[in-house]
Amino acid sequence: MRILVIGSGGREHALVWKINQSKLCDKIFCAPGNAGIAQIAECVDIKADDISCLLDFAKKERIDFTVVGPEVALSFGIVDEFRKSGFKIFGPDKKAAALEASKVFSKEIMAKYKVPTASFKIFDDPDEAKKYIEQMGAPCVVKSDGLAAGKGVIVAKSIDEAKKAVTSIMQEKVFGASGNKVVIEECLQGQEASILVITDSKEVVALASAQDHKRVFDNDQGPNTGGMGAYSPAPVVTRELFKEILEKVIYRTIDGLAREGIDYRGVLYAGIMLTKDGPKTLEFNVRFGDPETQAILPRLKSDLLEVMLATAEQKLGRIRNLEWDERASVCVVCAAGGYPGNYAKGKEIFGLDKASKMKDIVVFHAGTKSRVVNDVGQRQEIEYETSGGRVLGVTGLGKDIKEAIDKTYAAVKEISFEGMHYRNDIGGKALMTNCKAQNPG
Ligand code: AMP
Ligand code: GLY
Repeated sequence: MRILVIGSGGREHALVWKINQSKLCDKIFCAPGNAGIAQIAECVDIKADDISCLLDFAKKERIDFTVVGPEVALSFGIVDEFRKSGFKIFGPDKKAAALEASKVFSKEIMAKYKVPTASFKIFDDPDEAKKYIEQMGAPCVVKSDGLAAGKGVIVAKSIDEAKKAVTSIMQEKVFGASGNKVVIEECLQGQEASILVITDSKEVVALASAQDHKRVFDNDQGPNTGGMGAYSPAPVVTRELFKEILEKVIYRTIDGLAREGIDYRGVLYAGIMLTKDGPKTLEFNVRFGDPETQAILPRLKSDLLEVMLATAEQKLGRIRNLEWDERASVCVVCAAGGYPGNYAKGKEIFGLDKASKMKDIVVFHAGTKSRVVNDVGQRQEIEYETSGGRVLGVTGLGKDIKEAIDKTYAAVKEISFEGMHYRNDIGGKALMTNCKAQNPG
């Protein structure tokens, strides 16, 4: 089959890497891809949200199956457009993608179908929102309704901070029309876990649990990022909790959407807070998590492409169970100096080759570019340089989390570029948990 993967980050490198192992895969294109992806796929210079160009490309190249990485194209309706033209594609359609693209919609679905989540109120008037914040007190959470590149959630420690968030979202419109409405919600406490499933709206197969690390510095300090690392499985999600999350969050949401006439096909990602009152949903994403995917997929033994195809064809029932590597994985993100604020690009990356060759290590590229520096005869020498905030995701497998942590950091230490920084405590929380995580299945 001829496959097109859309996106350019670490998640897409992991998807391409895994799809490339499928016996069904003959050729992979990636739009736009990155320098790591280019080692296994043909990268094409089309933006991930340029739907008409992507569709033209799929027609021209006779693409058999398309996999969408990022949420923006999904929320613009790429799946609807591809299906209309007779192309098979993996991901939810525009209506279903609203589960991520509109926090108001997602909270309304959760409330209607009794999916456990933080208590909340929706506002379209900033003064009303601020009055409510004063009544409610701090801490509280202010969420911009629409997509805001991961920056639309403010966990406010004081009333003043929450009101300022309302001003910047609703009045200064820092995220544009995405801030026409806000959700103000109760601040939940606990450990977070990411539960991802693949569904064709009738059947559900769960992926192994994972935990992300959103803050930039060790011990969850500093501003939020796209994710500084992840590990899988997350021992805090015991077999009982996994079952409870599937029943109360995942099944209720998918069934609820079906009752609304929305047929969800693709990955459904639930961000869960494990509170003392049980698991509660923080958010839904309609795509694979980044960097959770880089931790989860190296543990998946089954053929992902086969599962994704069955999903698109609504024949997921034929996939009984996914097979998992019993080993644990850890993914550490190497970020550019300054990230998540302004950061420099174009810094040469050293040590990639050595790190990639280490046992049980995969280096996924996120924000990289390459250039040929020496092209004499048969020998091409390629140099890699940084081109994004999250530059690389180094994943290691070990017999347990401790071994995975040690192997991963040994590989990270081989890599360097000017300004590179990473967290030193990825996976640390798993070591403090006395539970044994169970693979789904
Ligand atoms: P999101 O951008 O929707 O992924 O949310 C970003 C992060 O904000 C989540 O991963 C949580 O750490 C935090 N968050 C969101 N909602 C809440 C809440 N109700 N209580 C506490 N933290 C929250
Ligand atoms: N890791 C969080 C996300 O993908 O949004």
